[in-house]
Amino acid sequence: MIFEQFSKIGIIPVVVLDDPKDAAPLAKALCENGLPCAEVTFRTAAAEESIRVMSREFPDMLVGAGTVLTTEQVDRAVNAGAKFIVSPGLNPKVVQYCIDKSIPVTPGTQTPSEMEQALELGLKVVKFFPAEPAGGLNMIKAVAAPYTELKFMPTGGINAKNVRDYLAYSKIIACGGSWMVKKDLIAAGKWDELAALVKEAAGIVKEVRG
Ligand code: 3PG
Repeated sequence: MIFEQFSKIGIIPVVVLDDPKDAAPLAKALCENGLPCAEVTFRTAAAEESIRVMSREFPDMLVGAGTVLTTEQVDRAVNAGAKFIVSPGLNPKVVQYCIDKSIPVTPGTQTPSEMEQALELGLKVVKFFPAEPAGGLNMIKAVAAPYTELKFMPTGGINAKNVRDYLAYSKIIACGGSWMVKKDLIAAGKWDELAALVKEAAGIVKEVRG
């Protein structure tokens, strides 16, 4: 079950890759330092090929697609090897398409109405996006009260300083974030620096969740 894997890993690195040649070294840094997972965003032309490379060369890694806005992108992501789909918002067409194809999907929500729409579609886990600007942990705790069966994957504005509090709350499956896979580090090939940030993030998960 994918959400059990999310929960175990704790932090889902949100990746923007401009060049598929960076996919393998990035995957290696993630897998070797405790976060064997990536949400590769469909914001760049390199996303599809990067998913393909990661899935092929790191078969034990949990590779998914993010910023998925259309059913066509769902197809491209899944054909490339993506094991899950994440979207910034809740597009019922995209969500239903994933459900019909048995592909785990985590759409972005922010309001109670969007969360109810997710429940109506049969989902039990939603992304909360953008987490910090939308009220952060306080907001999640407030909406978790009525929606007792819903769990959350907050993403947006999360970092090594505030992630502990999110991870400590039982309704949070995992946090998404890009702070340990920064674009400039990838572009400059600073894999050691990136690896240290990944290791730090994985250490926080271990510290909070054991
Ligand atoms: C994003 O949209 O890039 C993700 O939500 C990650 O947000 P972050 O860069 O604030 O971690």
